[in-house]
Amino acid sequence: MRLVILPNSDDVAEFACDLFARQLLEKPNSILGLATGSSPTTLYKKLIERQQGGDISFSKVTSFNLDEYVGLNGEHTQSYRHFMNEQLFDHIDIDKGRTFVPNGVAKDPNEECKRYEEMIALAGGVDLQLLGIGINGHIGFNEPLSSLSSRTRVKTLTKSTIEANSRFFGPDERQPTDSMTMGIGTILDAKQVVLLATGAHKAEAVRGCVEGAVTASCPASALQLHQHAIVVVDEAAAELLSMKDYAIWAETRHIAMEQM
Ligand code: GLP
Repeated sequence: MRLVILPNSDDVAEFACDLFARQLLEKPNSILGLATGSSPTTLYKKLIERQQGGDISFSKVTSFNLDEYVGLNGEHTQSYRHFMNEQLFDHIDIDKGRTFVPNGVAKDPNEECKRYEEMIALAGGVDLQLLGIGINGHIGFNEPLSSLSSRTRVKTLTKSTIEANSRFFGPDERQPTDSMTMGIGTILDAKQVVLLATGAHKAEAVRGCVEGAVTASCPASALQLHQHAIVVVDEAAAELLSMKDYAIWAETRHIAMEQM
């Protein structure tokens, strides 16, 4: 695992933006795995700027989002489809027909998950998967106790996740309690994975992800099993890491070797 600790959240977004830009330059028809939540929003703003500035293009990209709420259609303002359109897709040169988010109102949610998994495989698998992390260590909506080899499926949310995400829902809006999410096994199949975490409220989850035992109790710890996982955090999110100094030193070596 490559652990990158940067001074603040803007640096984290800039680092991730460089990573995505490099991916698109190397492979314009990349399959991107995308995420929602507050963690990627600055990254998306930066990607929009770079695309509109002519540095990169999404015209040949296919994307698969991690998850969606069961019961919300794509027009619902809290659906992840709506989030993606608003935060990224509506502002870049991507073909929206090649952007995929599970259908939250599919008649048969289990069938929809199976279909989604098959579509990812048919597309050739995800090249670069973006992740945030929940305060309980979840990735996508893989809550603690999720099988480390799980595939896209319906997953009931924990009370803590429902509470953490309640800030997005109005007092009269019904908040879903179930989701469809890529599994941990699906995520681990991506060729490269990048997880972003910022703020002191993520420090405990980041410790579990990076330094804890590999356990279903902290789904993000499964990234320790991935050959090309990069965890990018700001100093606040890194504050509980005992390997912090090593990570900072190793990163200077990494940069030096890249420049050789
Ligand atoms: C949601 C999403 C996750 C996201 C997490 C953290 O539960 N399903 O993909 O990583 O929230 O969100 P935030 O980035 O807002 O802290």
